[in-house]
Amino acid sequence: MFFHHTSHAYAIDLGTNNTLVYAPNKGIVLDEPTSIAFDTIRQTFFDWGASAHRIAGKNPKHIEVMHPLSKGAITNLNVAKAYIKEVIRRMVKRHWFKPLIVVSVPSDLTSMERNAVIEACKEGGAREVRLLKDPFSAALGSQHSIEKPEGVLVLDIGAGVTEVSLLACNGLVMSKSIRIAGNDIDQAIVEHFKNHKRVLISLRDAEMLKKNLGAMLQTPCKTIRINVKNAITRMPEPFDVDAKDVHLAITPIADKIVALTHAMLSSIPPSFASDVYEGGIVLTGGTSLLHGIETHLSQQLKIVVTPVKNPLQNIIMGAGRAIEERRYAHLLGA
Ligand SMILES: Nc1ncnc2c1ncn2[C@@H]1O[C@H](COP(=O)(O)OP(=O)(O)OP(=O)(O)O)[C@@H](O)[C@H]1O
Ligand SMILES: [Mg+2]
Repeated sequence: MFFHHTSHAYAIDLGTNNTLVYAPNKGIVLDEPTSIAFDTIRQTFFDWGASAHRIAGKNPKHIEVMHPLSKGAITNLNVAKAYIKEVIRRMVKRHWFKPLIVVSVPSDLTSMERNAVIEACKEGGAREVRLLKDPFSAALGSQHSIEKPEGVLVLDIGAGVTEVSLLACNGLVMSKSIRIAGNDIDQAIVEHFKNHKRVLISLRDAEMLKKNLGAMLQTPCKTIRINVKNAITRMPEPFDVDAKDVHLAITPIADKIVALTHAMLSSIPPSFASDVYEGGIVLTGGTSLLHGIETHLSQQLKIVVTPVKNPLQNIIMGAGRAIEERRYAHLLGA
């Protein structure tokens, strides 16, 4: 039986942007961007994780940086297999040893998308693979009880997926998701500056601006100088980015997240009305770090929003609990 061997098991949060691995009795042993680079001339693996991510957009012609996942799902099975092989190689030193792996995945993946995760892990070197749904990991990671009949509402805003789920009695009562999240905010910032300021900025700068200037409520009177390309002259030049513009770019994506959560709240069964109103929303995922987002959600939806302590590590900590504590074994499926 799977969980008699927890010392040979690992939990993986295979996110669109970030991969984290948890080893029993050790904690988080790996935290890397979900990126891999290939040498297209030699047809070989070149680099992966943070080192591959660092060269993305700056890569020479013969190096191709690839992302095995897009919007929460594997989009290129071969790339995913190669990526997971590297992850396993990093964790397991003895090449003949095949670990048992639990992968936390969005709950709305299709059966084909779920099979792709299982296949990529098996061919990447896992002996056995079990899937765990992200909302369970999120609730366990933030120490919320999922056994009780009182519903727990979890909102996970990641890089590729935003998912809102209602859990109770060890099960998923309902969930709604959109494949829109932090990466779409970065893209919206790039588009905003291209269309309204006639400057071209990189996705990397867009993400930096989101983290340092992005805010949902009071927009700070702040600017950051970056180097851009003028969209008309095509020449590089310095440009002062105003926080108000970053706010304008973010707002349409934030509206979609509010609308999704509103749709979820309006469709929960009346028997959960009291639990949800009293318990509020548990907010997790890297994009929940966007300044002011919890207050914005709370004001728009008129409900309490409680951010988890460490939104970038919450899912993996919960998935780690699921492999360490036998009482959660029933949450693991194929
Ligand atoms: N301080 C911050 N402010 C705003 N956004 C942030 C901040 N820190 C990280 N993010 C964003 O969080 C996202 C990554 O979050 P997370 O690691 O939860 O996603 P993921 O698990 O890789 O993706 P998914 O769950 O959607 O497949 C990125 O879009 C990143 O830009
Ligand atoms: Mg995630």
